[in-house]
Amino acid sequence: STVALFAGVAQADGLQGKVVGFSQIGSESGWRAAETSVTKLQAEERGIDLKFADAQQKQENQIKAIRGFIAQGVDAILVAPVVATGWDAVLQEAKDANIPVILLDRGVDASEDLYLTSVASDQVKEGRVAGEWLVNTVGDKDCKIVELQGTVGSTPAINRKQGFEEAIAGKANLTIARSQTGDFTRSKGKEVMEGFIKAENGGKDICAVYAHNDDMAVGAIQAIKDAGLKPGTDILVVSIDAVPDIFAAMVAGEANATVELTPNMAGPAFDALDAYLNGGTVPEKFIITESKLYTPADNPQGEYDTRKGLGY
Ligand code: AHR
Repeated sequence: STVALFAGVAQADGLQGKVVGFSQIGSESGWRAAETSVTKLQAEERGIDLKFADAQQKQENQIKAIRGFIAQGVDAILVAPVVATGWDAVLQEAKDANIPVILLDRGVDASEDLYLTSVASDQVKEGRVAGEWLVNTVGDKDCKIVELQGTVGSTPAINRKQGFEEAIAGKANLTIARSQTGDFTRSKGKEVMEGFIKAENGGKDICAVYAHNDDMAVGAIQAIKDAGLKPGTDILVVSIDAVPDIFAAMVAGEANATVELTPNMAGPAFDALDAYLNGGTVPEKFIITESKLYTPADNPQGEYDTRKGLGY
């Protein structure tokens, strides 16, 4: 899987010398930082001049950056959209300027003809895989779940919630007792989990925490330990991303399952861009990355070792 993380760098790439603007959300999570590193690495290996703009979690900054890229006359724009709505005008401006836009890892509520392609996971599936793992793990036992949602209005928060709810639907013994946003950050994940613990009999009534990303899960693990309970045993921990820190938590017996999200969205994006700019090939509208489940049975120490340093 590590090879897959960085595979796909075309030799003698046709993107040599092209200028590509990248509007990144920020650095809210370990996964996000890895996506930034991998994108820079992919650009460097292909000889692309990457113009990087960090939006510090603000959509208005992303829109400003995209307008700046259009004004500069870049060859293409990558954008990881922080939330789903509010993109129509700026995407139309890029289209009018004949600049292809590629969405990375999150979706938008906008007409599909406003972007060239979207490279992302099936986020509903990610939620479903996490939910199915929990259904299979608890069996007939009653299980009160608390949920740490991602950024409000972002497609991963919306879709991961939906997929998880689909997986537990019809299972009367599994209920989501509390659900709140932790904004995909470790610190908010911890803070919100502390509130859940207080509200649920010092955490004793909680059977599992479902976090929309690993960073919030890691924050929740700390909150569980601070409350004198054992994460992974007293409270099951299931999340999404497969970053090194969640494998370290698995090695320590403190996390139970994660669903992998590759940070290499740029590889397939640049391949599609190359084919489009140089071969006139219009790519699939949605390029979907894999969503593999990892548990402590899947050599978490090995997964930690191979990922550590590779962009994370
Ligand atoms: O859009 C992908 C999500 O954004 C990742 O799961 C999360 O860690 C990041 O902040």
